[in-house]
Amino acid sequence: MNHLIAFALVITMHFSLNEACKPNFVEIHNQLAPGRVLKHHCRGSINEQDKGVKYLKFNETFVIEFSDVSSRRERTVWTCLLSQGDKMEFFFDVQVYRAASIERCGQYRSWTAKSDGIWTRRDRTKPSGHVLNWKKK
Ligand SMILES: *[C@@H]1O[C@H](CO)[C@@H](O)[C@H](O)[C@H]1NC(C)=O
Repeated sequence: MNHLIAFALVITMHFSLNEACKPNFVEIHNQLAPGRVLKHHCRGSINEQDKGVKYLKFNETFVIEFSDVSSRRERTVWTCLLSQGDKMEFFFDVQVYRAASIERCGQYRSWTAKSDGIWTRRDRTKPSGHVLNWKKK
């Protein structure tokens, strides 16, 4: 009888832990300058998800919500081509997220386009840091 209770408890815990798996978020921010547009094209590796070519106005944010897939065969990777400038001549194809070898929950990646480059953070409570410079066509 005790074994049965322990078994039921394990099953219950397993399901409640699964339910507690919060989605992952990638955010793209336009902090270029007032009036400057950020073009972005984000693609996910799983099921060839394609968010299409979109534009963000200054101060706007684009959010991708997803769950990890991580197996021997495939792994969640999100890549966003960011472009800006009068002729969209400044660009960077950024790998904004890559799943680890185990599936994770509640991951957060923030990417901010600024005039001096691309800034990022993984912790909502911390400021972003400069990590990439714009390439020029
Ligand atoms: C952009 O956001 C900042 C901070 O929230 C705000 O002070 C500013 O007025 C905004 N500018 C525009 C053009 O929306």
